[in-house]
Amino acid sequence: MNAPLPVEVLKQHLIDPEICIRCNTCEETCPVDAITHDSNNYVVDPEICNGCMACVPPCPTGSIDNWRLVVRAEAYSVQDQFGWEELPQEKSLPVDAAVAGDAAQQAAGAQAEPAAAPAMLVTPGAAVPPWSAAHPYVNLYTHKTPITATVVGNYRVTGADTESDIHHIVLDFGEQPFPVLEGQSIGILPPGVDAMGRPHHARQYSLASPRDGERAGYNNLSLTVKRVTQDHGGEAAHGVCSNYLCDLAKNDTVQVIGPFGHTFLMPNHPKANLIMICTGTGSAPMRAMTERSRRLIGTADIGKLMLFFGARTERELPYFGPLMKLPRDFIDINLALSREPGQPKRYVQDLLLERAAQVRGLLADRNTCIYVCGLKGMEVGVLDALREVVVQSGEDWSILHEALRREGRLHFETY
Ligand code: A2P
Repeated sequence: MNAPLPVEVLKQHLIDPEICIRCNTCEETCPVDAITHDSNNYVVDPEICNGCMACVPPCPTGSIDNWRLVVRAEAYSVQDQFGWEELPQEKSLPVDAAVAGDAAQQAAGAQAEPAAAPAMLVTPGAAVPPWSAAHPYVNLYTHKTPITATVVGNYRVTGADTESDIHHIVLDFGEQPFPVLEGQSIGILPPGVDAMGRPHHARQYSLASPRDGERAGYNNLSLTVKRVTQDHGGEAAHGVCSNYLCDLAKNDTVQVIGPFGHTFLMPNHPKANLIMICTGTGSAPMRAMTERSRRLIGTADIGKLMLFFGARTERELPYFGPLMKLPRDFIDINLALSREPGQPKRYVQDLLLERAAQVRGLLADRNTCIYVCGLKGMEVGVLDALREVVVQSGEDWSILHEALRREGRLHFETY
């Protein structure tokens, strides 16, 4: 009698729809385009995914790191996954398959080491935090168990006569624990339903305040939110969550999930230097890190802070007034204005080149961490400028770039 054919088992890569905040990071990161989404879920196509793991470290929530052993012929299809509200339970495999499954699991485990080559190609930043970063808490509150925050402030931080309607919004958590670190983000659940009648998904916002609160010692935090009135192509569009947030009044309540993020964190050792490069609302984590450092003046040995901040005009640069009041011996501020009447158009990458000597000096110090946050488009320009700064001094950018990534010293958050 013939022996039964072994059943092929797949360690199927899945995304937990209850944790996922639909930030699109995984879809952007996947080097083989195995990740896609509909209006409900982000999903992994089992026909395409090769388990390279490139998408796992950048995911702010960890929802991407889910796996099920399945008989390959019965793998969950993309259509199955679009309909899920939660991950399916682990299924037991047929006996033959289970044996093959152990092998598959081992094989998949072997693959599960982050594959250096694709990760290097798809994400220019580090997948680990700086060595001295504090421990971040993530996913304490989820779509099913959100926390209620109260609005205690909502102010416009750009000139009233400008197109850029950017708000500084302060949320208070009262007696409920909500521990955060600079560089982390939270999710806001806007009320109401989408065009399909389903509750809106969470929208992710970076914290603009330091770990000990927008007001030091208070259980509150702040966000920097730009009212979205256009899509990326310049067509009129109504941003569901940004408009909701910008219109909130004091004492309104908001449903919050998170915190998220375990790598875009600041170093905590003495003399750590920060190079911060941002555009528009990408200034939120830079404000948080700057304020954290400012509060440490006189109590800790803080390193150098260098800020490159891009905006259309001074009046469209969020927090312009308070920023300019910071002592110059505390932070080296470089403003790149692109539409200031009578001035040449400048981007942050132009200023990095203009300040090459200072940037190079900081890059040569292993205590320096670099943070880039803002428009997706600036990623390439900033990397090119950093490369140019290093190459000008006869050094090898690829070696330094790899060290910055490996040591958790170069971080990107772009959208
Ligand atoms: P621009 O005037 O060319 O749009 P926004 O106000 O749209 O959030 O943009 C913030 C700043 O980032 C603006 O000064 C904008 O300039 C600038 N910017 C746009 N594209 C890039 C890019 N590829 N690299 C760096 N800065 C950019």
